[in-house]
Amino acid sequence: MSERNFYITTPIYYVNDVPHIGHTYTSIAVDTLARYKKMCGYDAFMLTGTDEHGQKIANAAETTGLKPIELADKVNVHFRNLIKTINADIKGFVRTTDERHADVVQAVFKKMQDAGDIYLGEYEGWYCTPCEAFWTETQLGEEHLCPDCGGKTIMAKEPTYFFKMSKYQDRLLKHIEDNPRFIMPEYRKNEVVSFIKEGLKDLSVSRTSLTWGVPVPGNEKHVIYVWIDALISYISGLGYSMADDKDFNKYWSSAFHMVGKDIVRFHTVYWPTMLMSIGIEPPKTVFAHGWWTVEGKKMSKRLGNVVEPFKLIEDYGVDAVRYFLLREVSFGLDGDFSFKALKGRINSDLANDLGNLLSRSLGMVNRYFGGILPDAGEATAPEREIQKLIADTAREYHEHFNEVAFNKVLTSVWALIGRLNKYVDEMQPWVLAKDESKHARLGTVLYTLADSLRVLSHMVSPFMPDSAVKMRRQLNISENVALADEQALAETGLLKSGVKIGELVALFPRIEDK
Ligand code: MSP
Repeated sequence: MSERNFYITTPIYYVNDVPHIGHTYTSIAVDTLARYKKMCGYDAFMLTGTDEHGQKIANAAETTGLKPIELADKVNVHFRNLIKTINADIKGFVRTTDERHADVVQAVFKKMQDAGDIYLGEYEGWYCTPCEAFWTETQLGEEHLCPDCGGKTIMAKEPTYFFKMSKYQDRLLKHIEDNPRFIMPEYRKNEVVSFIKEGLKDLSVSRTSLTWGVPVPGNEKHVIYVWIDALISYISGLGYSMADDKDFNKYWSSAFHMVGKDIVRFHTVYWPTMLMSIGIEPPKTVFAHGWWTVEGKKMSKRLGNVVEPFKLIEDYGVDAVRYFLLREVSFGLDGDFSFKALKGRINSDLANDLGNLLSRSLGMVNRYFGGILPDAGEATAPEREIQKLIADTAREYHEHFNEVAFNKVLTSVWALIGRLNKYVDEMQPWVLAKDESKHARLGTVLYTLADSLRVLSHMVSPFMPDSAVKMRRQLNISENVALADEQALAETGLLKSGVKIGELVALFPRIEDK
C-alpha cells in the first residue's frame, strides 16, 4: 500500500439546525489539511456528511412539524451548500439515512455480534436527551447536569444491547501509549486516558425509546444508538463491506479524524474499540480542535449571536474567512470570533502585507520592464539571504503542518512576506530605475520578488486556494500548485524570465468601516 494516501474526515453534522461558524471551522480545517497533502503529492480523500438519525433530530422534526426525513432532506442541503461555499474539495458525502450506509451499520453490528461482543441487557442511568448520552454518577455533579451541554439529565431505564467495551480497555490503553499521534494535540490525551483508567463500562448501543434510526438486525424493536450509526459513516463512506471496497482498502490505514473537543471520547474510546471488535485497526489520528465563542460569549440561538457562515463569506470573501479562522487561534485551543479582529486581519495581513507585496512587485515589472519578467541575473547577499529564508520557511511550514498547527504555519509564511516587503524598501527599485547602469540589478530584485511570490502562491494555497490561483495568473504560470514532494517547496529560481506577466488585479480589497 502506498504511503502517499491520506484519508481525512469531518464529523458528520447534525441536521437539527442549519450550519454555523463552528461547523464551518471544522470543515475548513479539514479541507486545508487535505489540500496541503495534495500539494505535497498525496492522494487525499476528504469525507464529510450529515448525521440524520436519533432523538435530537426526531425532536427537532416534531417541533417544526416535519417528518424526520423531511427535515433531514431540507437541512442536508444547507450542509452541502456550505461545502461548496467554503470551497472544500470533497470526495464523499455520507447521509446516515442513505440505504448504503444503513446496510453497513447493520453489517458492522452483526460482525460485533459474531465476535461475541454484543449482549442484551437493561440500562438504567442518567440520560441527556439532546446529547443522547448516558452518564455515570461520577461524571455528574450534584444537580445531575450533563457535562457536555449543561442541560438536565433524566433517570432512564430501558432494555438495550450492550457492546462489551470493557473487554478492550487494556488494548486501548496500550494503543494510546504506543501511538503518540493517535490523540492529538498531546494535551487532550490525559483526559482520555484517565477516563479509560476509571474503568471502561460496557456501552449501551441500542434504543427502544425511539424508531428514528437503523434497526438492530434480527430485533426491530431496537434501533442502533445514533453515535454507533454515525461513527460507522467513516468506513461506510469508503465502501467498507460493500461490493466495491477498494477505497476502504486504499485509504483506511491513513485515516485522520478531525473533531471538536466536545466529541473526543466518542472518537478515541467508542470508535477504536468498535473497530477492534470487527478486526479493523483504529484510525491513525483523532485531532481535537477548540471551540469558538463570539465577541466573548458562548454562541447560542438564545443570545442571538450565532455567526452565519453564508452571510459572512458573502460579505468578506471565502479566502479571508478561511484565513482568519485558521490564523486567529492556536489550533486546538478555543478562540473568540469578532468582526473587529476579522477586519483587522484582512486589512493588515491580507491587503497590506500579501496583497501589497504582489501588486507593488508586479507593478514595477510592468513599469520598468514593460511587463516582461527580467532575468534573475547575479544573486548578491540579500538575494542569498532570501533564498535561505525561503528554505527555512519551507522546513518550518512542513514541521508545523505535521503538528496541525495552522496558525504557526501562517506565522512563518507571514514572516517571509514581511521580509520580502522589507527587501523592497531596502533595495529601493524606484531609485535603481533612475540609473541606466543599474538596470540588470533592478531586474534581479524584481525577479527575486516575482519568484518568491511563486513560492508564496504554493504556501498560501491550502488556506486560500482562490487567491493562490489569482497570484499564479498574475505571474502567468500554471494554476496547478502540486509539487513533486515536500522538498520541492524550497526550490527557488523556477520562474521563467522573458515571459509576459498576467493582468494585475487586487488580491484583497481593504475593508473600510462604514
Ligand atoms: N453528529 C455529531 C458528530 C458525529 S461524527 C461521527 C456532532 N455533530 S455537530 O453538528 O453537533 O458538531 C459537529 C462539529 O462542529 C463538532 O466537531 C463540533 O465540535 C463542532 N462545533 C460545534 N460548535 C462549535 C463551536 N462553537 N466552535 C467550534 N466548533 C464547534 O457532534
